[in-house]
Amino acid sequence: MGSKITGFGAYLPPEALTNSQLEGLVDTNDEWIVQRTGIRERRIAQGEGTAALALRAARCALADAGREPESLDLIITATVTPDCFTPSTACMVQAGLGARRAAAFDISAACSGFVYALDLADSFIQTGKFRTILILGAETLSRIVDYTDRSTCILFGDGAGAAVVEASEEDGVLGTYLWADGAGGGVLRAQALPQDENPLGSRAAWTITDRAVSMAGGEVLRFSLSEAPRAIDAVLSRAGLTIGDIDWIVPHQANRRIISGIIRRYHLPEQKVYVNIDRFGNTSSATIPICLAEMRERGLLQTGQRVLLVGFGGGLTAAAAIIRI
Ligand code: COA
Repeated sequence: MGSKITGFGAYLPPEALTNSQLEGLVDTNDEWIVQRTGIRERRIAQGEGTAALALRAARCALADAGREPESLDLIITATVTPDCFTPSTACMVQAGLGARRAAAFDISAACSGFVYALDLADSFIQTGKFRTILILGAETLSRIVDYTDRSTCILFGDGAGAAVVEASEEDGVLGTYLWADGAGGGVLRAQALPQDENPLGSRAAWTITDRAVSMAGGEVLRFSLSEAPRAIDAVLSRAGLTIGDIDWIVPHQANRRIISGIIRRYHLPEQKVYVNIDRFGNTSSATIPICLAEMRERGLLQTGQRVLLVGFGGGLTAAAAIIRI
């Protein structure tokens, strides 16, 4: 039994935070941000949490697939910014949709999370355990970003993307590759709970800076520039394909320089690589499904095309998949 993606959906909150607005918050400027990252603006959720964004993206993906919520067997949400430790974001989406038959859980694999979720969905379908699975990448990173730290606050945004993966006679997932390097994880961190050296003593006030994203940007950049190609090579080899067989590359939108590095490395025509980082920044697990939903809406995805997805980031993690539309 193969699996195929039958629907894509995305939701971006309407409020944009532009580079010039950031100039009012930290010592930065539009030219520096555009040159170093390719980002011009990002979206910030106002009064909506991760589950609310995810639910809107889920509804779009179900509509695109022509499926009712009751047809779902499983919901998997990839997120590093859940609203609660429990219930999971996936359970909140299940309740919001009324997907009464579905099991639901979250996974944490940062910017590789959507590709991890796709691999899980494909594996579940191959075992025959489930037939119709909703996968999501959803984040409200603005809640864990320190808007006094110019090296991180310029990068991240909020958003959600979703896809419906179904059992199919056609093979729609041609190969996957998942990888992690936990030993390197310290270069990109966000604390979940206070690090309390004396649990019985008085607890210090817990502020945004305690849980804010902290990042050694140069290290993460180097990791991404070496691991993204490694993931691409591995998934091509597993699928028995070459880069010339791929119609579209959808890379995680972390930094335009990383995407340009991939383009140079494989001598790719620019028009084969989907980029929207200028408008949405880095939405972690949501970037890849947001790209796919936009491509679907713009009529860029044609039946039979092969699309290579590659994610990399916190954990550290890297992942790639090749899908057939
Ligand atoms: N505006 C202006 N100057 C800034 C700045 C900003 N927003 N942020 C940093 N700088 C300064 C630094 O302080 C440094 O100044 P100095 O030379 O006086 O010390 C200078 O710019 C260069 O900083 P550096 O960190 O070397 O820049 P960089 O070229 O590595 O770019 C990032 C910084 C964060 C854009 C880049 O490292 C990056 O994108 N890394 C990967 C991040 C990522 O993908 N994270 C998510 C993982 S999925």
